[in-house]
Amino acid sequence: MWLRKIEADRLRNLKAVSLDLDAGLTVLSGRNGQGKSSILESIYLLATGRSFRTRKQDELVAWSGGPMRVAGDYQWRGGRSSLAVIQDGPARALLADGLDLPFEEYIGRLGMVDLTAERMQVLRGGPEERRRFLDRGIVGLSPSFLRILGEYRQIRAQRNALLRAMAGGRTRSNQLEAWDQRLVQAAGRVHRGRREYAVLLAGKLGEPCRRLYPDGAELTLRYQPSPAASREMDPSEYESVLLAALEKNRERDIGLGFTASGPHRDDLTVEMDGTDLRKFGSAGQVRGAMVAMKLAKLARLQEDLEESPIFVMDDFDSDLDEERAAILAKYLHTGGFQAIVATSKEEFALRLPVPFRNVKVADGTVSVIA
Ligand SMILES: Nc1ncnc2c1ncn2[C@@H]1O[C@H](COP(=O)(O)OP(=O)(O)OP(=O)(O)O)[C@@H](O)[C@H]1O
Ligand SMILES: [Mg+2]
Repeated sequence: MWLRKIEADRLRNLKAVSLDLDAGLTVLSGRNGQGKSSILESIYLLATGRSFRTRKQDELVAWSGGPMRVAGDYQWRGGRSSLAVIQDGPARALLADGLDLPFEEYIGRLGMVDLTAERMQVLRGGPEERRRFLDRGIVGLSPSFLRILGEYRQIRAQRNALLRAMAGGRTRSNQLEAWDQRLVQAAGRVHRGRREYAVLLAGKLGEPCRRLYPDGAELTLRYQPSPAASREMDPSEYESVLLAALEKNRERDIGLGFTASGPHRDDLTVEMDGTDLRKFGSAGQVRGAMVAMKLAKLARLQEDLEESPIFVMDDFDSDLDEERAAILAKYLHTGGFQAIVATSKEEFALRLPVPFRNVKVADGTVSVIA
């Protein structure tokens, strides 16, 4: 699939942007603070209903005032469709082919994988970043996973409230077992989703790795569920392992007032040639690994959609050296992926070994150079 046209108005500094894209590579270039990331943010918003920079929707609306409007036309195997996101004061509308839809029905239409500076935190930051990486990937494939996550979060909050009430002597413990049962079932659904996704993603890492690391570096990705099993655990055993952990830690959980094990403590380890990248990876290794993981995500999503998702990358030059940028551009080109990338160094793009549409971004407006 590919995005044929993007329009954005009053999203941050963007002013009545209307840009026709083609199915290959588009490079957005321009000086700092001109609106390149904001254009990518518009595309991200169309695909996911969210921003990659903020959770606060009102930050996206131009300081001079709204309404903010982003719209796009895309081509997919079902034909041509449109998406739009409109923020007018506190009211937000998500429109697909003109129909105003709830969030969960809106998302997942435009298949997209993004790589932005913020995402480097996936490998550098705390485990919550890696859980989010997994969850975003799963939601991209099946938006109903949002509900599964929400159920688990809610049951855990209720169990935690009960633990605190028990610590305060306000209630007896016989309710806890019922909550443990519910928690374990909801946790099992989160666990299965993450495990399955991590395994599938790990299976897609080989090809991008071989391309990005012709000298043979090997990247491995391992899901680390909580509670950790002392041996390789069969997925069907998970619920009973978690239940046993809850029972064993009951007194401690009551003392702390929260649930110490479960999917909210999951992690993912990413190793390069056996070295944990989070702890020991160089900046370049971490960036390269992130690109490889994103390409694996792209391949995984492509398999699911049965067509090519689009790839969006910010600060194209800062995340990659020239050699790897060229490899990535060729990978996307030969794979037939539409890619929209931003850079503040136009000359970096001019040296890429593939044809591209060159778009200048200045003061919130765009002009096509070639
Ligand atoms: N809500 C807003 N309303 C108006 N302008 C905003 C808003 N939020 C951010 N800006 C401004 O929009 C401009 C464009 O920001 P953007 O991040 O898109 O720039 P960029 O071209 O990606 O720059 P860089 O090369 O530094 O990454 C910035 O000058 C920023 O201060
Ligand atoms: Mg930027």
